[in-house]
Amino acid sequence: MRVLLSSSPALTIDGVEQGGALVGVAAAAPPGRCQPRAVARLRLVTRGVTFGPRAAERLLTWNRAWAAHDISEPHVHLGPVSVDRHLRGRGIGTLLMLRHTTHLDSLGVAGYLETDRPEAVGFYERHGYAVIAEEEILGVPNWFMRRPPN
Ligand SMILES: CC(C)(COP(=O)(O)OP(=O)(O)OC[C@H]1O[C@@H](n2cnc3c(N)ncnc32)[C@H](O)[C@@H]1OP(=O)(O)O)[C@@H](O)C(=O)NCCC(=O)NCCS
Repeated sequence: MRVLLSSSPALTIDGVEQGGALVGVAAAAPPGRCQPRAVARLRLVTRGVTFGPRAAERLLTWNRAWAAHDISEPHVHLGPVSVDRHLRGRGIGTLLMLRHTTHLDSLGVAGYLETDRPEAVGFYERHGYAVIAEEEILGVPNWFMRRPPN
């Protein structure tokens, strides 16, 4: 995540705090800024090399495959979304999604995301997202989801 976030300077991060600790985050890129430019992609690979050349190559393959699905209409690109493991199922993710969808509606643009977690598909569907494509990348199934503008 550190590698990913540091190579995506346009991301804004919404967080939920509990008792002074950050327990949930939702990152999003504004319209027109979701695809890493060449420099950012290079930075991603360079940082990925820290984990070995094979990891860097896999990062790039995965990153390119996701980029190929990206929708051309203006959209806010959501992800990653994550809640501390021991606090899941208590509404923190829903709170992050309500803030995200309110933001989408205020801009009047589509939302878009990718996930490789089958259990997250239903969670996103409850917030107006629908699966528009599926693809296995590096042996892992991925779902590409869009929320139409309101
Ligand atoms: C998906 C996630 C962000 C939801 O956050 P949350 O705080 O648990 O969400 P809420 O408590 O508001 O809602 C829980 C709902 O999320 C769904 N969910 C998806 N993955 C879940 C998980 N690993 N644990 C618990 N609930 C999960 C459940 O179906 C649940 O639905 P229900 O209320 O009908 O039972 C959180 O579970 C998480 O961080 N998962 C791991 C990372 C991930 O999968 N991120 C999204 C994919 S990119």
